[in-house]
Formats: sequence, structure tokens, C-alpha cells
Amino acid sequence: MNKLEKIINLAEKRGFIYKSSEIYGGLKGFYDFGHLGVLLKNNIKKLWLKDILSMGNIFLIESTIIGPRVLYEASGHLENFYDRLVECKNCHNRFREDHLLEGEYGEIEIKDNKALCPLCKGELTEARNFNLMFKTYIGPVEELASEGYLRPETAQGIFVNFKNVINSMRAKLPFGIAQIGKAFRNEITPKNFIFRIREFEQMEIEFFVNPEEDEKWFKFWLEKRLNWYIKTLGISKENIIPYELPKEELAHYSKKTVDIKYKFPFGEGEIEGIANRTDYDLKRHMEYSKEDLFYFDQEKKEKIIPYVIEPSAGVERIFFALLCEAYDEDEVPNEKGELEKRTVLRFKSYFAPIQVAVFPLLSNRKELVEKSKKIYETLSKDFSVVYDSSGSIGRRYRRQDEIGTPFCITVDFQTLEDETVTIRDRDTTQQIRININEIESYLKEKLKICNS
Ligand code: GAP
Repeated sequence: MNKLEKIINLAEKRGFIYKSSEIYGGLKGFYDFGHLGVLLKNNIKKLWLKDILSMGNIFLIESTIIGPRVLYEASGHLENFYDRLVECKNCHNRFREDHLLEGEYGEIEIKDNKALCPLCKGELTEARNFNLMFKTYIGPVEELASEGYLRPETAQGIFVNFKNVINSMRAKLPFGIAQIGKAFRNEITPKNFIFRIREFEQMEIEFFVNPEEDEKWFKFWLEKRLNWYIKTLGISKENIIPYELPKEELAHYSKKTVDIKYKFPFGEGEIEGIANRTDYDLKRHMEYSKEDLFYFDQEKKEKIIPYVIEPSAGVERIFFALLCEAYDEDEVPNEKGELEKRTVLRFKSYFAPIQVAVFPLLSNRKELVEKSKKIYETLSKDFSVVYDSSGSIGRRYRRQDEIGTPFCITVDFQTLEDETVTIRDRDTTQQIRININEIESYLKEKLKICNS
């Protein structure tokens, strides 16, 4: 198994991620998240929120997933949000033209001036536009007027609420509106596990600025977001790559975009994009809705349409990057002192899905079990904790290492005499003994968020 296969295997085996509708054969491009996956996802979102809300001028919103047709006419998605699709006339597999041209399927054979299918050598069709939005109908009648779309980005729900936020929150430039939520894209070729999927979560900020200050704020956000990946999430600098898109790759709304890419085992892939969307969206919504979406600049006493700097990140891609970054294999001594191979996820302790595991040394000794359960219950109020009493201590450590639990507490016979427990560190495997009433402060210190 290569590293990527091992990571996917571990994520599925340990309950981070499951294939969606697996008992019916799975649904391509869709994944469900298990207990540990949900905890990790929530921690990513919490760290993102904590970072941006501390600025004081960012307001939250949760808009609907389904929007009316006119919204996506205005945003330009109906006209521009497509991939070029080609289909094999023989095996009917579909490909993205840009992926074929970029060599993702190896060199493409040409016969009689026609490109051949990389899988069966059948003839490929001419490329055609394939819109990536999922369409639905709102209400019982299936007609143009009731067409609705599942949002392909959370951003549009922000733009249409621009005036509401200004009026209700008394927002003054520069300010941001942020949203975490599901987005949907009918990708032609979902692939690389959870990297390119059809239903995913975005964390987006539309940061409204004075048009004269767009470049300054673009620089600010690019630096801030790079810093978050490296300092807060602890991703090594070498694995985080900013990439400025050439003009021909820019989205229809963007004047400038820098992608933040992560070095995945399968190659570099975008985890976030920072875009200068200019006044494109507000202008278009003003044109289509006929509503006044101007901002009144009190100082200059004039109406302006702000520019927008948009940092837009994908939760699943960050999740995947964190799994890749944390995955490690090493050798540690077992109970007999012999070196044994282990798999370990070296998550930063403050975002590990489980922060502490509590074990009684023996599961059949009532005094040890009672004491451990009491510690478990107390710690559960402040930390993400599991209780585990099955198997040898060595096996229990291995299980926690595999899911990245940074601390394991064991209640043993000495605990019954002097109220001390051992705390074992996942990375060093070293154990220290501390008093039960010191556990909380010890963990609080160790689990502090590190931003520097
Ligand atoms: N509002 C801007 C926007 O949506 P994008 O670059 O298309 O920009 C932003 O998407 C982020 O959403 C990406 O950086 C990525 O993390 C995530 N994303 C986009 N498509 C995705 C997909 N098919 N599967 C998983 N994540 C995706």
C-alpha cells in the first residue's frame, strides 16, 4: 500500500469517513463523516471562526442552500460555471477536456485527426459545456419559473444579504460577512478520495473594502490565511504553496486569484482560493434585482460599490491535508520493551478529535474502573475524552495513536494509594505521574491553541 492508500484505509477503518450509501454500492463523489470525522471537522471550523471573529469586523450568516434561478443568472453561474466535457463514443466514460490536455490520463492517442479515449481507445466526442450546478424544482410544478439550484459556492447567499447585514449590524467598510456551509458541484470526474467531491463544505469570507484599497486587503488576507495554515494548523511550510492563477484560469468574477495549495501524496492541490471579486457580484445583483446595493461612504459623502476580497476554503480538503500531514509510522517499545511498528496521527493536540483517553489498568478491578470512570466524567466537561478498558494497555495506546489522541491517562494500583495517575504523551511515548487534581491544569496548558 502507498501512503495515500494507507491514509484512506485508516480514515475508513477508524470511523473518520465512510463511503456514502455504501450498502447500495456507494455514491460516487459523496462521503459521510463518522464520529471522529465530525469532531475533526468541527475543530477545523472552530479554529477558522476563532481566527476571523477576533478581527471584530466580520459578521456571520447562514443562508439557504437552494436559491432561485434568477440568483444564478445574476451571479453568472448559469452562463459561466461549466467544465468542458468529452465523452467516449464506445465506453461512454466522460472526461474533463482540461484534464486530458494536462496529461492526467497519459499521452492522448490521435487517429485520423481524432483524439482517442485513454481507457478503451474509442473515439471521443467534441468537447461541450457541462454546467456543474445541481438543478431542482421548488414546489410541485416543474417549469422554468420554479427552477432552483443547489448553491455551487456559499458566497451568493452573502451578496444577496449585503444590505441586510449593513442595516442590522451597522457595518462600516472594511468589513466581512462569513459563512460556513455546504456547496454542491456535479463534478464530471470526482476523484482523489475527498479532494474532488460533489457535496462539500466551504468556509468563505466576503470582505468588503473601498475599491482604492483592494490590493492592500488582498495582501493582508493572503498573509493571514497562509499564517493560519502554517502556525495554527501546524502544516509545514514546505507543503503549503501559494500559486497565482494566470489570467486564462481566472473565474468569471475574478480580477486576481492566488490559490493556496497543499502537497498531497497525489500531487499539489488547491485547499483555498483568495480572489479579488471586485464589484462584480454586487453590481450584477443590483442589475438583476433592481435593488439599491450601494454603500454610503460617510466620510466622502458619496455612494460607492465596494470591492470584495474573498478567502474561500474547503473544509474537506483541509481535513484531508491534516490527515496527510499528521500520518506517520514509527517504532515504539511495547510492554516487553521490544520495538514494535505503530501508525500514529500527529495532530496538534488542540484540534485532535479526541484529546484524552482514560484507562483503568485492569478492566476487572472494580476500584480501578470506578476511579477511571470518575476521572473520565470530570474531564468530559472540558475536554474531548474517551474511556477504554478493553485489551492490553499496549493495544489501547496503539488504538489511540492511530486516531491521534495526544494524551492517555492510566489509573493503576498506585493511584489507589496516592491519588496519582500516569499521563502518556503520544509523540514521545514518555509517561509522567501526576496527582489527579493536577490533571485538568496540566491538560489545559498542553492544549492551548498555538498561533505563533
Ligand atoms: N466562492 C469561491 C469559490 O467557490 P473555488 O476555488 O471554486 O472558489 C473554493 O472553491 C474552495 O472550495 C476550494 O479551494 C476547495 O477547497 C473547495 N472546493 C471546491 N470544489 C470542491 C470539490 N469539488 N470538492 C471539494 N472541495 C472543493
